[in-house]
Amino acid sequence: MVTGHVFIATSLDGFIAREDGSIDWLDMPGVEVEDHGFNEMMASVDGLIMGRGTYEKVLEFGAWPYNKPVIVLTKSLKASAIPKHLQDNVSFCSDEPEQLMQSLAGWKRAYIDGGSVIRSFLSAGLIEDMVLTRIPVLIGRGIPLFGPLLKDVRLLHIDTVAYPSGLVTSRYRVVAHE
Ligand SMILES: NC(=O)c1ccc[n+]([C@@H]2O[C@H](COP(=O)([O-])OP(=O)(O)OC[C@H]3O[C@@H](n4cnc5c(N)ncnc54)[C@H](OP(=O)(O)O)[C@@H]3O)[C@@H](O)[C@H]2O)c1
Repeated sequence: MVTGHVFIATSLDGFIAREDGSIDWLDMPGVEVEDHGFNEMMASVDGLIMGRGTYEKVLEFGAWPYNKPVIVLTKSLKASAIPKHLQDNVSFCSDEPEQLMQSLAGWKRAYIDGGSVIRSFLSAGLIEDMVLTRIPVLIGRGIPLFGPLLKDVRLLHIDTVAYPSGLVTSRYRVVAHE
């Protein structure tokens, strides 16, 4: 079955966005000239699976940043809401994570994005590894990456890179759900 892979940035206090969804705090001097592995990650996956919250934020960027298929998990949006210029790139899906992953014929690796969706996929045992980049800022309140779990998730630390800008990226493999 296709494996799930996470590549996401958090504030030092563990948030992926402010409470209103804004990610202005991700911008930092020096970050734009560093390679944090995003292009390598994108090249390694067959497509993305993201939550509606993340999709709606990416739509605000204006230019669509992905050149691979994007599946948006949503039970509230209808396919007719996909803008015309994205109809070849984006599809909506209301399946449960396991059902979706089993249906992805031809995919080997999927980029899983969005806090709530990442937690669902983690709980279902569908995440193989996570690359977490900590931004050196405390934002106090926001949308958390992690939250309550039914069981502990044991991780194996692979490596950590500290960049001159102050970003710190750690790679973890998911070992077991206890
Ligand atoms: N810091 C970063 O690197 C980074 C990366 C990605 C996103 N973000 C930010 O994170 C925010 C979005 O994260 P989020 O946690 O609020 O939302 P999310 O995970 O992107 O989306 C959650 C939505 O997905 C839908 N959904 C359908 N099936 C689901 C399932 N099995 N599990 C979970 N959700 C499912 C639901 O929408 P329906 O009601 O339509 O069913 C749910 O409300 C945005 O502000 C974005 O900018 C930051």
